Amino acid sequence: MEPFRIHLFVCTQQKPEGVTSCPASGSLAVLGALDREIQARGLNHDMQLTTCGCMGLCDEGPVMVVYPAGVWYRRVQPSDVCEIVATHLGDGKPVDRLIWNDAPAMKAMAVEHGEKFRAAMAAREKAGVLPDRLDQMIRVYMPSRCLLTALELDIFTAVGDGGNAEQIGTKVRANARAAGMLLNALVALGLLSKSGDDYKNTPESARFFVQGSKDNHRNGLLHTANIWHRWSTLTDAVRSGTRVPSSRDDTPEWTRNFIAGMQRNAKDRAPLLVKALGTTGVRRILDLGGGSGVYSIAFARACPDVQCEILDIPEVVPLTAGYVSQAGVSAQVSLRPGDMLEDDFGSGYDIIMLNAICHMFSEEQNRDIFRRAHQALAPNGRLVVQDFILDSEKTGPQQAALFSLNMLVNTDAGASYSEFEYTHWMKAAGFTEVCRINLPGPSSLIVGLVK
Ligand SMILES: C[S@@+](CC[C@H](N)C(=O)[O-])C[C@H]1O[C@@H](n2cnc3c(N)ncnc32)[C@H](O)[C@@H]1O
Ligand code: FES
Repeated sequence: MEPFRIHLFVCTQQKPEGVTSCPASGSLAVLGALDREIQARGLNHDMQLTTCGCMGLCDEGPVMVVYPAGVWYRRVQPSDVCEIVATHLGDGKPVDRLIWNDAPAMKAMAVEHGEKFRAAMAAREKAGVLPDRLDQMIRVYMPSRCLLTALELDIFTAVGDGGNAEQIGTKVRANARAAGMLLNALVALGLLSKSGDDYKNTPESARFFVQGSKDNHRNGLLHTANIWHRWSTLTDAVRSGTRVPSSRDDTPEWTRNFIAGMQRNAKDRAPLLVKALGTTGVRRILDLGGGSGVYSIAFARACPDVQCEILDIPEVVPLTAGYVSQAGVSAQVSLRPGDMLEDDFGSGYDIIMLNAICHMFSEEQNRDIFRRAHQALAPNGRLVVQDFILDSEKTGPQQAALFSLNMLVNTDAGASYSEFEYTHWMKAAGFTEVCRINLPGPSSLIVGLVK
């Protein structure tokens, strides 16, 4: 039984640069064209388009197979896609000129490919060659660093409608030879295109990295560029057990990018958190370390009766004010400059939120915040921690384990913590019921209830 009338498989097996493969012959462009054409013809409810791994026929790629008939196509190009979709998928007549139906030859090629692959693997294993997975892990910083440097220099804005290396280098106040090297690497990474000496932004780079574009993420991404410098201190931080000075200390610009980065990460998640917690019976919320105010803004938008109070450090509160006023919810969201480690929280709150906060602090500091939050909540009030939650061994999820190191290089005593730890600290603070709510994405909620 087939859940769809037609099931298409397109090989997208990535292989090292220089090795013959379907993606190297253009299978990703074929996949994109198929998806667009199927949608355009309204056939998407009738068929499933799936990527698949190597079928051993790489020299004849891009390869695709159409089931249930089992029609194999080879050397498919984006220019063939209209015909395949209209004639084969639409009218049921396969495109003869692209069909490969020499089963014995196909089988022989696939078997030979498999044997060669296994022999090559065995030879590498015997010679003690570093596995590709480890080699890639060691080098993955290079593309990342190229993109971060391009963002720091604001290369994509400088490229604008196009220019050569000298023109772009002059705009970003960089050496022309070095700018050319960086621009070429960005072309190799698929972030720019080049024609003659002229560079242009790809549609994606123009959309996400150019100042002034509607979906520009540059400010938020510059926070990651700042964090890079902290991560370079990881070896020394592991030796010393806490953060060590980095080449770039916090500046007003660092803080602005940090808050923009946090807002970028949280803006789609905030309505999900509001939905998960609900607004029934919620009138007063305290948002500790609210940053851009993204979660308070989401509550204010969801319920006109809710009043939120954001407590953040004096350097951040003016930035918070900007986000709150831009969202048009200043009447429902008030701001309090202060220090959550020292200040009295007040009383009578229905919810106290700690979104992306606890990882900045030590166990003792978190326990103290939980104790004071318990006193500041009304009966049936809830303390909400949102964070990366480690499993009990603290070895996963991977993002939470890596984030713990992010806190090592960035804070005096922060870390990622486990569900067991949060639950234990909440119960010790007086919360009788504690539960976990998983949200889509990498972070979850731990919610403690006051009875
Ligand atoms: C990681 S950000 C989280 C921001 C926001 N809750 C969110 O999820 O988007 C941490 C926030 O806590 C604030 N913060 C750090 N230490 C603080 C302290 N001692 N008192 C008050 N706020 C603090 C920072 O200024 C920043 O806005
Ligand atoms: S990479 Fe596509 S068949 Fe081998």
